[in-house]
Amino acid sequence: MAYLQTDVTKVTTRVLQNMKLNGEKIAMLTAYDYSMASLLEATKIDVVLVGDSAANVMEGFKTTLPITLDEMIVYASSVVRAITRALVVVDMPFGTYQGNSKQALASAIRIMKETGADAIKLEGGVEVLESVQRILSAGIPVMGHLGLTPQSINKFGTYVVRATDQEEADRLKQDALKLEEAGCFSIVLEKIPAKLAQEVTASLKIPTIGIGAGAAVDGQVLVLQDMLGITQQFKPRYLRTYGTFGSDIITAVKKYISDVKSRDFPNEKEQY
Ligand code: KIV
Repeated sequence: MAYLQTDVTKVTTRVLQNMKLNGEKIAMLTAYDYSMASLLEATKIDVVLVGDSAANVMEGFKTTLPITLDEMIVYASSVVRAITRALVVVDMPFGTYQGNSKQALASAIRIMKETGADAIKLEGGVEVLESVQRILSAGIPVMGHLGLTPQSINKFGTYVVRATDQEEADRLKQDALKLEEAGCFSIVLEKIPAKLAQEVTASLKIPTIGIGAGAAVDGQVLVLQDMLGITQQFKPRYLRTYGTFGSDIITAVKKYISDVKSRDFPNEKEQY
């Protein structure tokens, strides 16, 4: 594949476009801090998303709504300091782009200037098109996000699979085309039927990245803590776990406590 043969040192939006053309799947994961991002840097991950899921994973909120732009900037700049190869995309938090495209541009500029990230992501279709266009006009790459858009949880009232009826599916298809036409470089499709995701992917020139959207998308994204088995009690059907780090950490900490209490730690060699 052309992408694999060239000496690529940095994944760009153009590289992702070529991956779609060449049929090479895109691997994307979230990160919110320097330590985790440093581990991702040691891999060939293509895209690192500083998702507003940080509100849930890092801050313990039930929804993504409370996280602020200032907080996202702290998370994103920590991640950027660890990453050289992957494309770093930062979520625009709720309330920083909806309805007011000037505010949207100002928020996106803050993210780009203060974090050093490569692109921003925002949720929604036609209702955020003006914001998307204004951000793009400043030369900032935009990733769209359709289907289950967690910032609209209070409108949906539930996190169940989206666009199962024809009307919503048709709207989603139109939204995807409009985001592509506006100049988005990629679109996340979250928790929609696999057949719909396949149709949307086939209708677009830009790559789609799925989460709970089946196999016929151009790439996949998961929340890092979910796929590592750190997040407890979150087991949606789409989630494949690649480790048991949550229980491993609990076991390790219990052993540490026991070693401290029993005076086993520190031993002779572990002191000066
Ligand atoms: O915030 C996030 O982690 C996301 C992914 C689930 C796509 O938007």
